[in-house]
Amino acid sequence: MTADGADETGGDTGEEDAQDFYGRWARLYDLLARKTPGITTLRTRAAAACRLEPGDTVVEMGCGTGANLPYLRERVGPEGTVVGVDFTRPVLERARELTAEYDNVHVVRGDATAPPVADADAVLATFVAGMLADPADAVDDWCDLVGAGGHVVLVNAARSRKWYGPPVNAVFRAVVVLSTPPTTKLRYETSPHDRLDERIDAAHGRLRDRSAAIAHESHALGVVRLTGGRVR
Ligand SMILES: C[S@@+](CC[C@H](N)C(=O)[O-])C[C@H]1O[C@@H](n2cnc3c(N)ncnc32)[C@H](O)[C@@H]1O
Repeated sequence: MTADGADETGGDTGEEDAQDFYGRWARLYDLLARKTPGITTLRTRAAAACRLEPGDTVVEMGCGTGANLPYLRERVGPEGTVVGVDFTRPVLERARELTAEYDNVHVVRGDATAPPVADADAVLATFVAGMLADPADAVDDWCDLVGAGGHVVLVNAARSRKWYGPPVNAVFRAVVVLSTPPTTKLRYETSPHDRLDERIDAAHGRLRDRSAAIAHESHALGVVRLTGGRVR
């Protein structure tokens, strides 16, 4: 994917930069989030990995324009609850428009690293961990939020580890550099794709450490990683 995965920043982007970036590009981002080839399958797989039952509560951290929310709603049914959390107002407005037909889908402004939700059966975060300064810490909080037996699912784009990775990664690297939200600091102090890889590894590694059972999938030539964990 282009902007979808790649614009999780690997650089030193501050929260304000990220909110400006996503705020300005909300409509375009929304188009990519829904129409990128293969994205429907990926979002279906991510929702399935949450292992939801009808009536469950699921929280999506960094829900953006809400592209995952209908898939989650389908899993929990009319008796369940879906909460989308994001800190960027314009993307949340779009998410609200697109889920207006559901009275059990709630879109709230908040920080994914200090979620405004106390309890849930599952947490989903797609293309978000790479934007967090301490993604492993955030994953810990999400595991605590769902508690033992709950599920946390992470989907992220990072460098492919497949044997055919080098050419795929050359393209991925260019996309990350071009789509990293500009910062108020020097843009290339640290290479954005290296930082992104470190953050994704840290987040998925912490989820593996915290889980009693784990499922892993890779998509898009190995660039997209999905890790689902049942918390111990
Ligand atoms: C690459 S987009 C992904 C959106 C959505 N999950 C998807 O798959 O289309 C990342 C989103 O995370 C949000 N975000 C990043 N850091 C956040 C934080 N600390 N708290 C809340 N939202 C955050 C951004 O505002 C943006 O909407």
